[in-house]
Amino acid sequence: MIISIGSDHAGFNTKKIIKENLEKKGYKVIDFGTFNEDSVNYPLFAFKVGESVVKKESEYGIVICGTGIGVSISANKVKGVRCALVTDENTAKLSREHNDANVLALSGRFTPIETNLKIVDLFLKTPFANGRHCTRIDLISEYERNH
Ligand code: RB5
Repeated sequence: MIISIGSDHAGFNTKKIIKENLEKKGYKVIDFGTFNEDSVNYPLFAFKVGESVVKKESEYGIVICGTGIGVSISANKVKGVRCALVTDENTAKLSREHNDANVLALSGRFTPIETNLKIVDLFLKTPFANGRHCTRIDLISEYERNH
């Protein structure tokens, strides 16, 4: 499975650890940066990850900033992205089961790395539950198409 990943400076260390962990598990990772801790603007990285997922270069995206808020707002501006900001294991699973999230947003400053690694693992292995949730996802896509 191919995963697109990107962060700002506040998410850089978390991105590095998540990327190494994914590669160890056999995932292919496309890294959109940033590549050091110099201050950068998070929207630019979130847009690249979102676009990569929508273009189907990868199956899922992971975006990281200090809180996870900035990258989630930004990624959700890309048509076709359903980005979920997740800070615990329950919502990691539900973001896939109920929302069919295709991009995961994480906090590099407030969520411990062990939790972020568990979140990534759950996010990538949990399938969409379909059923009644399809209607809701379709409503979001329809809104996007018409506005
Ligand atoms: C950078 O200082 C910080 O504002 C950013 O990483 C993020 O938390 C924004 O939502």
